[in-house]
Formats: sequence, C-alpha cells, structure tokens
Amino acid sequence: MKKILLIGAEAMPFAATGGLGDVMGSLPAAIQAAADGDADVRVVMPLYGAITDTWRSQMTKIAEYMLPLSWRNQYCGIHSLIKDGVTYYFIDNEYYFKRDTLYGCFDDGERFAFFCKAAVDMLGIIGFYPDIIHAHDWQAALSLIYLNQKYRQVQGYEYIKTVFTIHNIEYQGKYDFAILHDVFELGDWDRHIVEYDGCINLMKGAIVCANKVSTVSPRYAQEIQSWEYAHGLDPILRENAGKLCGILNGIDYVYYNPERDPIIAKNFGVDTLSDKFDNKLALQKEIGLPENTEIPMISVISRLASHKGLDLITEMVYNLMSRYDAQLVVLGKGEQAYEAFFVELQKNFPDQVRALITYDRDLSKRIYAATDVFLMPSKSEPCGLSQMIASRYGAIPVTRETGGLYDSIKGYWEEGDKIHGNGFTFANYSSAELAERTSAALSLWNDPKKREALVKRIMTTDFSWRASAFQYLEMYASL
Ligand code: GLC
Repeated sequence: MKKILLIGAEAMPFAATGGLGDVMGSLPAAIQAAADGDADVRVVMPLYGAITDTWRSQMTKIAEYMLPLSWRNQYCGIHSLIKDGVTYYFIDNEYYFKRDTLYGCFDDGERFAFFCKAAVDMLGIIGFYPDIIHAHDWQAALSLIYLNQKYRQVQGYEYIKTVFTIHNIEYQGKYDFAILHDVFELGDWDRHIVEYDGCINLMKGAIVCANKVSTVSPRYAQEIQSWEYAHGLDPILRENAGKLCGILNGIDYVYYNPERDPIIAKNFGVDTLSDKFDNKLALQKEIGLPENTEIPMISVISRLASHKGLDLITEMVYNLMSRYDAQLVVLGKGEQAYEAFFVELQKNFPDQVRALITYDRDLSKRIYAATDVFLMPSKSEPCGLSQMIASRYGAIPVTRETGGLYDSIKGYWEEGDKIHGNGFTFANYSSAELAERTSAALSLWNDPKKREALVKRIMTTDFSWRASAFQYLEMYASL
C-alpha cells in the first residue's frame, strides 16, 4: 500500500481562496480512487479560524505538544478527520491561524515556516511515515527543505520521496536573509538551498530539494522554462527540466454537476439542454436584468487581477456591449481599478451589464448554469479551472491559448457536417482577437442547431480527475 501525504495551505471544503483549494480538496480522493484500494492518501493543512464549527466537531485531537522554531517554542495541536476515505490533519496554533484571512499577513513567512515544520515533525509523533510527500506551492515549500536539511537522519524519514507542485509561479515566498535563522531556523550551511537573486526564495529551495517537480498543465511546464512566464525562476526550471512535468488538473465532478447541483434553479444535462434556459431566466430575475432567453448571456468569473486578461476585456467590452444585444455578468473581486471599471460599465449599460463585486461560490454556480459564452482571456494561466466548470455547465468558453487553457480548450472549426474543438480560442494577447472570437461565439450561439451540437460536445469533454489521477500515481510509482 502506497502512503502519500499532501501538504498545502488550503483545501475545499474546509478553507479556500482559489484554485489551489479546489485541487487540494478533490485530488486526494481522486488519487485514492485511482489506486483502487492500494493507497493511503492523507492531507495536512492549517486549522484556520475560518474552518467552521461543523467541521471542527468532526475532528479528533490526536496530539498536542510544544514545537520549537528557531528561538520560539510554540503550541502545536494536531487534529484529524476522515472525509471520502482521505485522512485530513489540521495544524492548530491560534496565534498563527485564528485570523480573518488565510494569507496576506505581515508574518506569513513565519506562519508557514511553523506550518511546514509541524507537517514534517508530526509524522514521527503520529507514527505515519509516507512513501511520498507531495508539497504544493510556496507555503508548503519549507516542508521539503526541512525534510532534507533537518529530518533525513531521523529513523522513518530516510527514504521518503518528494514531489513539489507549482500552482502559480508568480508567488514564490521571497524573504530577506535577515530572517534565515531567526524565522526559518536555517543555518549558513543551508543558505545555498534557498538563495536566489540576492534573497531567500522558498519556491526555488523546494524545486532544488524535490525528487520531482510538477505543474498543473503540460503547456505551463514548458512556459515556465522561459523568462516571459517564470517570474525570474526560468534558469532554475531549465536546470531542473529533467524532473519537471505537467499534469492537467481536473474538477470535482460531484460538486460541479449540473444534473444534480442543488444550488442552481433547474437541473439539466446534455439530454435536457433546454432546461438550461430556466437557469438563465432565474438569474436574470435574481440580478435584475431583462428576462429573455433569446438574449445571449456572456460572463466573466474571475479574480480581478491583470494576469487574468482583464485589460483585454476592458479594451473591447464597451464596443461589444454597444454592438450586440447581449448581457454581461461579471463576478469577482480584486484590483480596485477593475472593480471600478465594471461598476462604471454597469452604469453605462444598466439593462445589459451586472458587476457583482464579490467572491461567492454558490452565486458563481448559478452564473455558470445561466451563461452562454464564458470569457477567460488570461495573459498566463497555470491551469485554470473556470473554463472547465463553465464547460460542464454548458457555457461556450472563449480563451487565450496559454497554459492549461491551451491544453483544455481547442478552437472550434467545421469540416462539412463534422465539428471540431470545444470553444473559441486565440493566440495573441490582443483585445482585437478576443473581440473577434467573442463575436464568432455569439454568432454560433445564434444558430440553434450548431449551438446544440457544440454545447453538447463541450459538456461531454472529460475534465474529471480520472486521467490525471493516474498520471500522479505513475509519477509516484516512478519514484
Ligand atoms: C492557481 C492557478 C490556476 C490553477 C490553480 C489550481 O490558482 O492560477 O491556473 O488552476 O492554481 O492548480
């Protein structure tokens, strides 16, 4: 039986702020299922204040002790519960984790150093020595560094193999050398592991320490070896190219299932496509747009950050809204300038546009279910999950050919009666190309026969975890 421990800063449904949480919440059970009884998959994350009492009441406290980190000696509780056959551990320390947000605190470096040390240290305490430790993103990077630099000589830790997965290379965990010992408990002899570009770079350290490095799509695995995408880490990734691979994420097919989803107005599937219109009418009513199924509904569901391609949307959307009798729904929070832009856009097109400046998972599902055309023109996109969720709910994606968008959405074309592709795509980071492909999607949508054929094709494209979970198992086995 293979024993696998995933380490990460967030996991659905306990606490999440983005795609990492989706993956950490669905990949473990998918690996467990793919291994068909031959894997014991466990996950460790912090016990954040945001984790509800309902979950806490299902946890058992299995250990508590004092954990040293440099000159500190901190309380460390280990709580645990089992969900879908996966054991989850939660590291408890209220000073570090009982806060209003998951990240963005002045002492994030210290908080995640404590988390990583606890995640590795607890293995001896609970007597679980995995074959594989699989750490995700910079917040978990120190776990692999500590394993190599501090725990290898300890019995049980000698033969553990390691994987580091990059979900987004933009966030690397960079710190000043002043805190190398004081916060990270690393000595001068460890310095070369984390040193990069004149500062501590935790992600670089994990890349160097891990036996394998993966990222969340094959295309992104290539892209991050070039300077345009790597935010400075491309030389390190080129040096380590031999252990780098890309495995496309999947989405949770139970949670995202239009045939069963209790959150949406009316369930629908490929054989009951016309019921999708009831969702459109319900959403139009909910957010006060004209209730009419004939008007195409376009949506953007995204963190309002520039790498999501918001500049392209802001450049072309006035023209789009003026030219077409279409509705646009924007859901998301982020950079102030974009929030203000969409609020202003709504004022200019009160019967066509709704700017919903919030993060709301349930509302996002109602929008996916109502949407006809989904825009995701990211400048860079490690994998992207929204285009997969949109597809599952029968919305036609319009995407830029980058990262996981390139790997998951292929451009539509006709060959006699046959159709190819599962969306509309464009190559250059250009608002003209986005506008042109959006128009193409809208004109296809206006042809009911073609629309039905394409939407069915999109909805049945397999974005489940099945294939990818097997690839993870193969990677573990290769180690
Ligand atoms: C990050 C990436 C996103 C990816 C997600 C899960 O949020 O930006 O593209 O889908 O991680 O891997």
